[in-house]
Amino acid sequence: MAKILAAITGVGGYVPEDILSNADLEKMVDTTDEWITTRTGIKERRILKTPGKATSDMGVAVVNQILAKTGVKAEEIDLLICATVTPDTTFPDTANTILDKVGAKNAFGYDINAACSGFLFALTTGAKFIESGMYKKVIIIGADKMSAIVDYTDRTTCIIFGDGAGGVLLEPSEDGNGVIDAILKSDGSGREFLHMKAGGSLKPATAETVANKEHFVFQDGKPVFKAAVTGMVSTVKQVLERNNMTVDDIDWLVPHQANMRIINSVGDMLDIPKEKVMVNIHKYGNTTAGTLPLCLWEYESQLKKGDKLMLTAFGGGFTWGSLLIKWAY
Ligand code: UT7
Repeated sequence: MAKILAAITGVGGYVPEDILSNADLEKMVDTTDEWITTRTGIKERRILKTPGKATSDMGVAVVNQILAKTGVKAEEIDLLICATVTPDTTFPDTANTILDKVGAKNAFGYDINAACSGFLFALTTGAKFIESGMYKKVIIIGADKMSAIVDYTDRTTCIIFGDGAGGVLLEPSEDGNGVIDAILKSDGSGREFLHMKAGGSLKPATAETVANKEHFVFQDGKPVFKAAVTGMVSTVKQVLERNNMTVDDIDWLVPHQANMRIINSVGDMLDIPKEKVMVNIHKYGNTTAGTLPLCLWEYESQLKKGDKLMLTAFGGGFTWGSLLIKWAY
């Protein structure tokens, strides 16, 4: 009997309508379009401004799109995993809220927090439930409302992040297409460089933590930049080697969208042609767990059955990794 693989059989994406451009940011903090463009490659990002709307609402839009595209009914979903660092509430988790809002009465769900690697970690986890034969329809969402945790007076972070969500449906396949392999890594010693200082059990919210702006993203960019390039390149190489492949075998590199200079460095170090590298950072900035599925959503029409995609990401934690998938449609 052929091995059961977890195939992506549908992709969805959602970005809010409101655009925050570099020109807008020039009026908010001491920065320039020129600095942002040359240092990050970002021209604009999307912001979820509608009052009362949260990460789950973006996830709901993605799930409904996937269901409409694939003809799968909400009641058929077995499991939904939501990767996010901006859950609607600390608990319960956002996955359960999404399931309730889409009417997925027969499913269970949970969140995964691996920052910018969240979608990669969730996709790998979800694939195992399919490969084991346990479930038939698993939805993986990467969604973040970063505007909820960004300090718009801090020019070192507010120019980077945006809001957005994407997701995929995983179903069993026996034709060799699907998730082939993944290598995931964590190094907790990197947590000092990218984190939120307060709001957890270590430092619960107080009037002082709010006054000190400790409920926002903190990032020391340079060490993160270096570790991101090294981490993504090394895990891509390891996955290739383990599967007796070279870079030439890859049809698409799908890198986390944190900084165009990081994407270019990774592409150059792997010696992969630019036309094989998915990029949407100029439009959406860094949407954290949203970047990889938003890339798949945007490039879906260019993908062919059997194409080999290498997804790679790096994020807070530190967390990072790479995943090889053969496109199924
Ligand atoms: O997605 C999760 C993983 N995250 C990442 O992968 C992000 C990795 N890091 C980065 O992308 C980059 O480090 C940043 C985009 C965050 C920063 O770029 P950089 O080239 O590392 O700049 P820097 O932090 O070394 O700052 C250079 C200068 C500083 O001024 P001085 O000290 O040289 O006078 C900053 O104060 O640029 C200044 N600066 C700015 N200037 C204008 C920092 N932010 C801005 C700004 N506008 N927005």
